[in-house]
Formats: sequence, structure tokens, C-alpha cells
Amino acid sequence: MCGIFSYYGKKKNAPEIVIEGLKRLEYRGYDSWGIAYKQDSEIHVHKETGKISEFKVETADFKDSEVSIGEVKEKFTLSIGHSRWATHGRVNKTNSHPHFTEDKDIVLVHNGIFENYSEVKAYLKKKGHKFITETDTEVIAHLIEEHLKTHDFLEAVKMAIKEMEGRFAFVVISKNSNKMVAARKGSPLIIGVKGKEYFIASDIPAFLPHTNKIYYLDDNQLCSIENGEIEFFDMDSFDPIEKRIVEIELDIESAEKGEFPHFMIKEIMEQKDTLNRAINQNEDQILKVADAINKAYGTYVVGCGTAGKVGMVGEFLFSKIAKKHINFSFGSEFTSHKPFLTNKTLMIAISQSGETADTLEAIEAAKEKGVKIVSIVNVESSTMARMSDIVLPIKAGPEKAVASTKATTSQIAIMTLLAYACAGKLYEGKQLLINTASQINDMLNPRYEEHIMGIAKRIQDVESMYIIGRDVNYPIALESAIKLQEVSYIHAEGFAAGELKHGPIALISENTPVIALVSNDEYKKEILSNAMEVKSRGGYIIGVAPENEDVFDFWIRVPDTGNTSPLVNIIPVQILAYQLAVLRKNDPDKPRNLAKSVTVK
Ligand code: F6R
Repeated sequence: MCGIFSYYGKKKNAPEIVIEGLKRLEYRGYDSWGIAYKQDSEIHVHKETGKISEFKVETADFKDSEVSIGEVKEKFTLSIGHSRWATHGRVNKTNSHPHFTEDKDIVLVHNGIFENYSEVKAYLKKKGHKFITETDTEVIAHLIEEHLKTHDFLEAVKMAIKEMEGRFAFVVISKNSNKMVAARKGSPLIIGVKGKEYFIASDIPAFLPHTNKIYYLDDNQLCSIENGEIEFFDMDSFDPIEKRIVEIELDIESAEKGEFPHFMIKEIMEQKDTLNRAINQNEDQILKVADAINKAYGTYVVGCGTAGKVGMVGEFLFSKIAKKHINFSFGSEFTSHKPFLTNKTLMIAISQSGETADTLEAIEAAKEKGVKIVSIVNVESSTMARMSDIVLPIKAGPEKAVASTKATTSQIAIMTLLAYACAGKLYEGKQLLINTASQINDMLNPRYEEHIMGIAKRIQDVESMYIIGRDVNYPIALESAIKLQEVSYIHAEGFAAGELKHGPIALISENTPVIALVSNDEYKKEILSNAMEVKSRGGYIIGVAPENEDVFDFWIRVPDTGNTSPLVNIIPVQILAYQLAVLRKNDPDKPRNLAKSVTVK
């Protein structure tokens, strides 16, 4: 949620470097964007609304701007940038970042929420500060400026941080200092380093074309760069910290679209490989977690959105495979479980980004009670991974499309492995998953896509559609609805198939599409009757199933894989959602109102 990219170094085209970096971070927020850089002891700012990917530096018109994106003639260039997902204040140029004080003494970009900003703003107003936006970020700039009256720049930043509540990350520069200061408390910030050049970004792929050497800025740490040298400090004690450069292996290609028109379809197709990577977990770690689950007095699985639906799938899988009860909670609802936590409880946190504020807060609440944390996470450098006792990395590679696809199936695969391991049958589970991955490999071909396109064309103009499933495919019905909603903007809802007759069936009218997830299991007969009830009321049944059934108007074949049916059932719906988005001329990678990682509560 919001992307930060900043550059400190000797390259003269720093603003361009920052714009290119922001383009690679656009999936984090795409309402508006802005950059700032220092030139002749002045800080110049340029802001735009809309998507930065559509902005071309070569043809850009800077007539109404105070900047010209050309060479910066400074010994070291300081440039900061931001792509925004609006939280405080509407989407317009004024509210977009960077934010600054009246004469641009202090200019900063910020991600996260400064929770007590209104009290601080009221205090600063009394001191004579004038504000031009409704944002919390502008207040940080003024707070630092206030402390500049009595401290130097770095000290002023440190003093300001002491007064800030909430989760945030920011990068700030000052007219009267050659320092660039960055701080991290709960929102990601990673520093790429190449000799005396530094790239500060919300995510690693943003600076991969420049370097794969990084410093991890941990939570509650800040850094200051001056004359090509970097120093790190603890945010509470302000003691200096020693850090090591880490070399990472991510390649640029995996973070690019390649021959695919969109990241979403690229990531759907990658599931052939990503599943195998997820299954190939360190067996000792899986057994260690399974042992911890078996010994725990209560296991909570926590996640949000799609990752939450994976947690729900886990509840069913554990009951089915390991005959074990685990509790699921959305991150945002977790506090109500707090009274039941002890130091014998276990939490499994599921997340692609590892930065989702609601899940992080649940982890914090659990840690306070001594709960042991296991995370199933894609971004291994994330806050969540670093807060966990054990990390099971899903190894899906960068997921850029806002709608989660490959991370979802990898997370489901790991939950399946854990359930089998808890039942003492890890090898059986692994074998089943390997077979499933190979069947998915066969499934993902152009003919399959074409077949699904037939149905996408048939339903592209409907107002509403529904998805039904039973048992472990009930959460998959919910997840299917999320996928369809977020990229097609069609009103889609998932139901436990048996629940239809208790109310929702009233929504069915002539030709309402209903996707029925029909697996070859003990619930098959019941769900087929539920589909028939829908059909009798005019509904149009799209069956996702291993076999064609009389009740289906349209059949999408999936392999019969037994306990891994959630994996094979979600994939055709991901493809359908993608195709509907394209047919309806929506951007599947950057759906409206959303952002990739949700770092606000
Ligand atoms: C939907 C989607 C979101 C995320 C949710 C949690 O396709 O991607 O619902 O699943 O915001 O994000 P992570 O997994 O990063 O914690």
C-alpha cells in the first residue's frame, strides 16, 4: 500500500531513476504519484494524478511544473518518490506525495498511518504552522520542522519519530542538509546499495535493475545517508547499529511481465512451477511445525482477504486429514480471541506480502501473550517473516498483480502438507501434491483458456453471479467471489451450497450464472441437488468438476485429485476472472480502489 522509491548517489538523472523505480512499485498504489529532488539548495517537487506507468519522461510536459526532469547538477543527488493509495484525503495533486513544509525546508514521502496526527496537527497549528492538505504526512514534515528549531536535521527526525504513533515508513530530505533519512516502523523499507549509491524502496524488485545487494532496515530502525556513507540507528535508544550487506538471488525477469499481456495471467500460468517450489519445503521445518500444532493448546490460523480464505481451507483440511481442530480468524477480527491465548497457543499467519497491517496486529497481540508464531509468507524479507519464530516460505517469486493467484495456491499447498504431516503422513501428502501439480501443468494450456473464454463471453455483461461449494470448497467459493469481484467488478458472492435455500436462492432469476464447485467427494450428491434447485429457478449452471453432469449448462473440467480439490478448483475461476476483466476493459493488474499490500488497518 503506497510505494516509496528514493535515490541517493552521483547519477545526474536521479529523477528518472526514481520514476522508473516507482513504475516497478505501482502495484502498491496507483491513485497518484510524485517525486522531489534537491538542486542548488532548493527542493523541487513534481506531482501527478493517475498511473505512473502511463507517464513518459521523454514526452512529459513540465510547463506547469517547477521542475524539469533533466540533469541534476549536484555532487550527490537526493531524490525521493512515491506512488499513492489514498488513505487521508482525496485523490488529487495536492494530497499526493511528496509533502512539504511551507518553504520546502522539509520534504518527505510516507507509507502507513500516523495515527495521532490530528492532535499533533492541532498543537503545531497553535505554534503557527500552516497546512495545505488533509494528509497525515504533511504533519510529519511540520513536526520535523518544529524540532529543527532546536536540533540538527537527523536529531529533529528522531525527535519527531518519538511523538508518532502507528505503523509507518518514510524518507525525508531537507533543504539545509545533505542527509537523506529513512525510518521504518511496521511498514516495509529496504535499502539497495551499489558502492556509494543507495536505493530506498518499499520492495526489492524496484531496485533490482541497479543492484541485488541490500541492507535490511528492521522495524524500529532508521538510517541516514550523507556523502555516500550510511549509518543505522535504533529508533528507541538512538544507539548506532552495525549492519551487513546481504546479497539476494531474485532475478529481474521474474518481476517482469515478459511475453504476457498482464501480470495476472503470467502469475496464473506460473502455478505450474510455483506449486512445485512450495511443495519442496524443508521437511524438518514442516515436521517441526506439525509437532508444534499437535502439542499446542489451540492453534489459530490468521490471514486477511484471500490469505484468510486459505486459512479457512486449512480449517477444513486439518479436520479432514488430521482429525484436528484449528481455529481460523481474519486478522482484523483476531482481538476477540485474545482471552483464549496462552504461551501454549500456536499461531499460523498466512500472507503473501508479509506486510498486511491487520495480520501484523494479530501477531503482535498474540506475541504479547507468549504465543509462538509460524508464518506462511511469500516475501521473506517482510515484517511478518521477521516477527515469526518459524517461517515457511512459499517461494512463489514476486506477485505483482493485485489479485493474488500463485501465492494462494502455494499457501494452500503448504497448509495441505502441514495437515498431512500432523496426521503422520507427510510423504503421502507430498506425493499427492506432486501429482496434483503435474495435473495442473497439463491443465494450463491455451485450449483450456479458450474453453473458459467461451463462458467469459457468455456472461461478460451480467450484473451478478454466485459461486457455491461445500466443505473444503466452501472457502474456495468465497475466494472465487473475491477474484471475480476485484478484477471483473461484477457483483459476485460465494456461498456454502447448503445455505442457498435458507435465503440467497431468492437472488436467482432467469440466466443468473452460478458456478458450482463439484468435487468427487462425499458431498457431490448434495451439491448437485443444490445446483438443480438453482437451475429450476432459471439459473445458468457452470460446473467446475472432474465429470460432466446433466445439471451443468457449461462444464469446466478439472482433474479428480481428492484432498487437493481446492487447488484445481480455484485455477479455472482465476482464469475466468482474468478474462472477464479483459473483456470488460478493466486493468486486471491494477483494479480500481485496491492496492497490493494493505499496510493500514
Ligand atoms: C485478493 C488479495 C487480498 C490479499 C489480502 C492479504 O486477491 O490479494 O485479499 O489476500 O489483502 O494480503 P497478504 O496476503 O499480502 O497478507
